[in-house]
Amino acid sequence: MNRWVFVILSALLIALVGIAAIRDSQDRDYLAIQQRYQSDHNDTGFNIQVQQIFPAFADAKRGDTFRVERCISCHVPDIGTIGPELAAQRLAQDFMKYQPNAQAVAAQNHYTLVHPAYIANGISVPSATKGFAPAMDYTQYGITGTGFAPYSVTGATTNAKQGYAVTPTTVLPGPLPAAVDPKALNPTQTNPSLQKVGIDQVGCIVCHNGSRLSLNQTDAHQNLIANPEYDFTSGAQLYYKYCVTCHGVQGEGGKGPPLSNQDRLGYFNEDYYYRCIEYGFTDFEHIGSIMPNWGSTATDFTYDPTRDKQRPGSRILSENQIQILIQFIRHWENYNTLP
Ligand code: HEC
Ligand code: HEC
Ligand code: HEC
Repeated sequence: MNRWVFVILSALLIALVGIAAIRDSQDRDYLAIQQRYQSDHNDTGFNIQVQQIFPAFADAKRGDTFRVERCISCHVPDIGTIGPELAAQRLAQDFMKYQPNAQAVAAQNHYTLVHPAYIANGISVPSATKGFAPAMDYTQYGITGTGFAPYSVTGATTNAKQGYAVTPTTVLPGPLPAAVDPKALNPTQTNPSLQKVGIDQVGCIVCHNGSRLSLNQTDAHQNLIANPEYDFTSGAQLYYKYCVTCHGVQGEGGKGPPLSNQDRLGYFNEDYYYRCIEYGFTDFEHIGSIMPNWGSTATDFTYDPTRDKQRPGSRILSENQIQILIQFIRHWENYNTLP
């Protein structure tokens, strides 16, 4: 009897090890991507393995432990040796080469295909080695910078969908956290054009979000902000035109719930946010609420005057505009709240 228990337990163990091995090798799409990168850029050597970024700012640590990100397992895995400028150029080139739908994705996300190499205090940073090394401007996009100038709507606001006027002087902070302020990170540097931090020092998720530990593309790209610069500016315009009335100037909520709630941002995925905005109160998740439907009407919706506070309207925002708004809302997801 005991022998059979032993045999069954051993078989189970072997099966579990097998399943683990299969899963492990399935999660290694980064290997193929690294091999392609290595043959395309054979000027620098690096090990084919999980590559990690150790950001240079204090918030990137918990105690002595780095909260690493593994984006560079697939993207510019030799960023540590080639530096931020070359890495930025390769990101754009490789994207066009490796992304099967590059043209469509680039158009949808308004890519200029010039990747910022730095965060800096000042719009552009002259490069010592290359013709250019554009930077994302901390004085605009930083939490302590001039931030967004909210969109101002003139005219009567007869219903929620027509938006409302925010005083044009209101200035909102940008998405880049204080932790990556180049001034604070380079306190001894007085020349503003040299106050800069490379993407190799700040990592990827400060600007792009995503999952810092995953090694397959879908999981790593969870909640990705594809084009931070475009989404923050265009997303802000849409947000301050249509959503600010109910969700607050900084996503803090009001008539509607807060959108900056870290637990909800971390928990809900793109699909959920898409449904909320597209269908609003016509979908089961928000039925009977005052959240307008900005796109279509949910297919199973029937108007019920005892329950519904409004009739469904026709589409105001395109699918693409809703995507941009989702990414704009995503910028309230705090670096500190990720695993
Ligand atoms: C398993 C491999 C893998 C990992 C890990 C990975 N990516 Fe990607 N990513 C790709 C591939 C492949 C593409 C398409 C081709 C390219 O851009 O090189 C891509 C494209 C992108 C794009 C362009 C938009 C798009 O949808 O094509 C961005 C932005 C991006 N990745 C950011 C990140 C960030 C940030 C991380 C880390 C949180 C990350 N990636 C982790 C493989 C990966
Ligand atoms: C300072 C903010 C910032 C950081 C840090 C950053 N990116 Fe980007 N990324 C951007 C912006 C802005 C764009 C859009 C560029 C454009 O207009 O084409 C972009 C675009 C991309 C693209 C699409 C191709 C392209 O160049 O347009 C990929 C892929 C990408 N980033 C990956 C990464 C990876 C991987 C890292 C980390 C090594 C990273 N990014 C770090 C801001 C950043
Ligand atoms: C008339 C007020 C109003 C306006 C304008 C409005 N919302 Fe809402 N929104 C709400 C209410 C109320 C809810 C909560 C619905 C419920 O109770 O289920 C909500 C819920 C949401 C949610 C789900 C939040 C969560 O954590 O579950 C999202 C996302 C959202 N709104 C985004 C937007 C966006 C984007 C816009 C602008 C295009 C917008 N809302 C405009 C009132 C509004």
